[in-house]
Amino acid sequence: MKQLFLRRLPLLVILCYCSIGTMAQQTNSKDVFSIIPQPLNIDLQQGEFVLDETIQIWIDTDKEVQGIAELLVKGLNDFVGIHPKIVQKPARGSRTIRLQLVADTLGDEGYRLSVDTDGIVARASKPNGLFYAIQTIHQLLPMTRSIGEKVTIPAVSIVDKPRFGWRGLLLDVGRYFYSVDYIKKYIDYLAMHKLNVFHWHLVEDHGWRIEIKKYPRLTEIGAWRPSTNFQRGSQYVNPNPHGGYYTHEDIREVVAYAQARYVTVVPEIEMPGHVLSALVAYPELSCTGGPFEIPELWGIQKDVYCAGNEQVFTFLEDVLTEVMELFPGEIIHIGGDECPKDHWKTCPKCQQRIKDEGLKDEHELQSYFITRMEKFLNSKGRRIIGWDEILEGGLAPNATVMSWRGVKGGIEAARMHHPVVMTPNTHLYLDYFQGEPYLEPTGYKGHLPLRKVYAYEPIPEELTREEQDYIIGVQGNVWSEFTHSREKADYLTYPRGAALAEVAWSKKENKNWEDFKRRLETQYLRYEYKGINYARSAYQVYFEVTDHIGQNKSTVTLHTDSYQPEIYYTLDGTQPSPKSLKYTGAIEVDTHTTIHTATFRDGKQLSPVSARAIVHFRR
Ligand code: ACM
Ligand code: ZN
Repeated sequence: MKQLFLRRLPLLVILCYCSIGTMAQQTNSKDVFSIIPQPLNIDLQQGEFVLDETIQIWIDTDKEVQGIAELLVKGLNDFVGIHPKIVQKPARGSRTIRLQLVADTLGDEGYRLSVDTDGIVARASKPNGLFYAIQTIHQLLPMTRSIGEKVTIPAVSIVDKPRFGWRGLLLDVGRYFYSVDYIKKYIDYLAMHKLNVFHWHLVEDHGWRIEIKKYPRLTEIGAWRPSTNFQRGSQYVNPNPHGGYYTHEDIREVVAYAQARYVTVVPEIEMPGHVLSALVAYPELSCTGGPFEIPELWGIQKDVYCAGNEQVFTFLEDVLTEVMELFPGEIIHIGGDECPKDHWKTCPKCQQRIKDEGLKDEHELQSYFITRMEKFLNSKGRRIIGWDEILEGGLAPNATVMSWRGVKGGIEAARMHHPVVMTPNTHLYLDYFQGEPYLEPTGYKGHLPLRKVYAYEPIPEELTREEQDYIIGVQGNVWSEFTHSREKADYLTYPRGAALAEVAWSKKENKNWEDFKRRLETQYLRYEYKGINYARSAYQVYFEVTDHIGQNKSTVTLHTDSYQPEIYYTLDGTQPSPKSLKYTGAIEVDTHTTIHTATFRDGKQLSPVSARAIVHFRR
């Protein structure tokens, strides 16, 4: 790590001075800080704390705090190259970073942090709060230092706590298998954004990713596919076999790693649909008996578990028993989405079940299925969460609902006094394009720019004050239909994950889009340090065009999702450069003009060229 730091420092120094020099000049205001997510309260004070090798990290005997202190040392080493000692009795007169557990009113995840010339004190009532305090300390470290310059933090007092308890990210490992090494990195990145739930989508039609010792064929057969068509409806097929799965040892390693970073891992074991990977291995669990193949194409599969077959419930109880041994968290995701009922309508066993249980239709059969699994998990002290389709046919009595088809399901569940996690595809599906599709890598069809994630408000206005309390949090989802590398997963997740973090953590009144964009410039440097392949799409220029039909003119405004962009454009078909026309406000252009434009800073091009032809169509 030391080597990494030394290797990267010169690059960063150059980067910082070119890219955010103007921002560094804004001293004596809380704007000097770039903390993401924005804390509850920041109070800038006089003076500064100098970090050097003489400082010590002072903790009490708590073992958990020792682990947090070690992560602080690692962060200080990675970001500024110092490696302080952890002590329980600091040397007389030494300057310290004190990590202390004390009773407080800020809840389990809140903390207080004060920095003055003598040291830093972080206090929290639970280790979770101290862990978030050290994330903030990492973000107080200067990223704009020249070589040899001392490391200082301005004196400041911070009080902080999260808005929501569930601050999640889903990674779809079913459609693309990511290594344990990457999963741990993914959890690291969550933690640095003060996110606290990793939703591990372990079961999908295209791959069963969790070893189940009682049913070895799930991973011997269900974890592998011969080829994949990455582009829906096109000819492009990746002919390579793809697959992989996590062993029990892998999972224990990931869960322990997450626990040390105060991230709860929520495993998703899909049912009754999205399970072709299980049916390939055990076709007797379907209505038709198969045989099956894992398809090359994406989409919803009609073959699902048979809801009339007792063997299916025995199988799932066995699977969940192993899952519970591996995952200590109370909540287990049972899927529940996109389950076609075609085979249930004609399957004698399913129809017999409907008759025997006095159910109205196949939706009630799905509700029977989920409720039965809930009863099993509740009897073992666990709770279920499921996608909003579990509302159809009647919601299981103790279920939490994950609202993905917009917010309708979330509103309905909150009105029924069930906990809700908001993850609407309109605002939090991070696999959607974040820039103009022609400037982005192949992706899913939706459009979700950074500004739209940032603007998301999780509490629907329609809910009463009491119902609002059932919205327990928010989550972003990274589906993998078009994500087949760790670099692409990074790219889709960040910086939109930073916007999600602020939606999830920061008080609504503390959100500020302009200031977020400013802070993001420093966050990008942290991403560089960590090796996160973040998207630069926020620098892309996008157009707002008002046509003046009849005058053969249009008014065009140019925007980006970045801070104080320098936009240059051309109207003569040539590529823009810092010698082109500088954009300073709305422009009027004639029809049949094509605008080419890009963002620059200090002469360096930061975005690809966006192009727009101004054409008036007459109907
Ligand atoms: C989902 O996107 N099918 C939950
Ligand atoms: Zn059936």
